[in-house]
Amino acid sequence: MSLYALLSPHITKAYGEDMSEKFDVIVIGAGAAGMMAAARAGARGRKVLLLEHTDTPGAKIIISGGGRCNFTNLEIKPDRFVSNNPHFAKSALARYTQFDFIDLVKAYKIPYYEKTLGQLFCDGQGGARWIVDMLLSECEKAGVTVAIATHVHDVVKDGDVFHLTTSAGQASCESLIIATGGLSIPKLGASGFAYDIATQFNIPMIAPQPALVPLVCGLDDVTMMRPLAGVSLNCRASLGKTGFEEGMVFTHRGLSGPAILQISSYWTRGEAIRLDLVPDRNVAAFLIDAKAHKPRSHLSTIMSELVPARLGHALVEKHGGNAIMAEVKDEHLRKLAHLVSEWMIEPVGDEGYAKAEVTRGGIDTRALSQKTMEVTAQKGLYFIGEAIDVTGWLGGYNFQWAWSSGVAAGDAA
Ligand code: FDA
Repeated sequence: MSLYALLSPHITKAYGEDMSEKFDVIVIGAGAAGMMAAARAGARGRKVLLLEHTDTPGAKIIISGGGRCNFTNLEIKPDRFVSNNPHFAKSALARYTQFDFIDLVKAYKIPYYEKTLGQLFCDGQGGARWIVDMLLSECEKAGVTVAIATHVHDVVKDGDVFHLTTSAGQASCESLIIATGGLSIPKLGASGFAYDIATQFNIPMIAPQPALVPLVCGLDDVTMMRPLAGVSLNCRASLGKTGFEEGMVFTHRGLSGPAILQISSYWTRGEAIRLDLVPDRNVAAFLIDAKAHKPRSHLSTIMSELVPARLGHALVEKHGGNAIMAEVKDEHLRKLAHLVSEWMIEPVGDEGYAKAEVTRGGIDTRALSQKTMEVTAQKGLYFIGEAIDVTGWLGGYNFQWAWSSGVAAGDAA
């Protein structure tokens, strides 16, 4: 039995114990969505088994938000979710809102605070673990059997019943909820299980891709960026009309930080991202004014009033070199201003699932009921959470989708 199982009073079964029983509902994946769905189904009097292949339920919750879990956002709106079917998430998000989850957090007396942009984080020493304990307590109250370190080898549907072969024996159920998430962070237990089940039951998929992920730039840009690794600033990163004004940081291979992670969810290979490094100022007017008032200052010194000094210096060196302001033509200042406000970068890739906070794409929502998450052509089969083609913005949106979709399925299964 794992250390977590020993520590937690909520884990009722562990690897090796037989569970060859009939359940009303089996939930595969004890992450955010799965624990929520299991607790809700159990609270309705359903006999529920929650299966997890690692020995740590809610591993992503525990490490999220730097250990403090950004568990929801005060500004949840359907247009802050990326999906091929933008209206799909509306019903579940409206039915179980951020305020419903906040009420649950309050009922457990978990301290929290708003960090920025409506993002709610746990406060105090317990941090994110409090959220996992809260969800496991809800499961325990609802009589859910939680089996960790248990592997599902096979799922077969016979009439209206699902039969599972697992490393802990056979189990069957009327309703099967797949809550195994996406492919992000394999070392935390991510697997393609949901996609395998989709393939087995002929359920269409939107090709999965890393999202909320740092971007990798081409050699030309990286040559300039590498010495700037660690330099951060506020910027606006945009693609067409979609843009995010948040922090950005240079890395050894390209760009990261909230603004870049956000835009990565909208980016497709071959597209150029526009970066405005000084979003709140007219840079050309500022530089021309500086030339009039500080003619003996160096261009790089003036640039460091707009952006971090190392970046200002690198930009000046790359575009024409350093000089005192009096010697720089207005035309060059305008060109530099344009480069700073509309730096077009064409990333060559992303840092992949090992660094991606979420997976976009997944189960095609057109195959699911938006009210219950049930597969319309497969009675009794449900998909929830990150496995589905619904991806939230950075800032608590993805956990809210896990809670809302988990409730939708848990109340119906
Ligand atoms: P999740 O991945 O949480 O759970 C899936 C579960 O299924 C896991 O326990 C996994 O082990 C299990 N599983 C997988 N395959 C299985 C199999 N074959 N058999 C049995 N079990 C299986 N979001 C947010 O809103 N606020 C935040 O602060 C953060 N922070 C954050 C930090 C980091 C580093 C990451 C990687 C991600 C975040 N996120 C986030 C995103 C958030 O963690 C994510 O959207 C949710 O955890 C998705 O919940 P799910 O329950 O769908 O999947």
